[in-house]
Amino acid sequence: MKLYADSADTAQVVPMLRDGLIRGVTTNPSIIARDGLTRNDLPRLYDEFGAAGADEIFMQATGGSRAELLADASRIADFGHRIVVKVPATPDGFRVARELQQRDVRVLLTAVYSLAQATFAAALGVDYVAPYFGRLVDSGEDGLSKVSNMTQVLSSTRTRVLVASVRSPNAAATLALNGVSHITADVPVLLAMMLDPATEQSAAEFERVAGESSHRSAGTEH
Ligand code: G3P
Repeated sequence: MKLYADSADTAQVVPMLRDGLIRGVTTNPSIIARDGLTRNDLPRLYDEFGAAGADEIFMQATGGSRAELLADASRIADFGHRIVVKVPATPDGFRVARELQQRDVRVLLTAVYSLAQATFAAALGVDYVAPYFGRLVDSGEDGLSKVSNMTQVLSSTRTRVLVASVRSPNAAATLALNGVSHITADVPVLLAMMLDPATEQSAAEFERVAGESSHRSAGTEH
């Protein structure tokens, strides 16, 4: 199982990386804008996430034409060895992904909504596909079956399914139960995955009992 932070908020992400809780970071233009940043911030983000211990840093290329998309993808690929370049799974995106892969650049095809797209991506041998689970469900699809089918079909290939748009601990757990091994989610969702009220209660009780017994043993010391 590999977990990633779907965020460009360094104040939230860097401590998680430093504590070794996540494998890396995924971003896209919407996340960059949401966190008050621009594409000019990408090299700095790469350096900060890398210094904090990210194994993989996913950054997305943009461009109105195939040539522009490839040029931006090449710029991002040059940031360093931790980069995985994200490209939208459009017809141009597939072609750019193929070209990047031939240059030994790691690639993720993103915003994948169909098993057909995932199948095509696997035929190219790209590193990852990213289906948008929450958005699939929003659009009335059976997101879980779709993602499960992708996981099943791609299991015999080198292409991994990295599920994005995962908005709750329960969604993450349900995906895991259905064979998903790579999940990216915003930091609050990741933090909430570690929490359970019953565990908090048990931990508080352990502390209370331990405190009482150390108090007793302090009383019997001479
Ligand atoms: O990485 C995917 C993400 O940006 C989309 O998430 O929650 O806006 O559907 P969401």
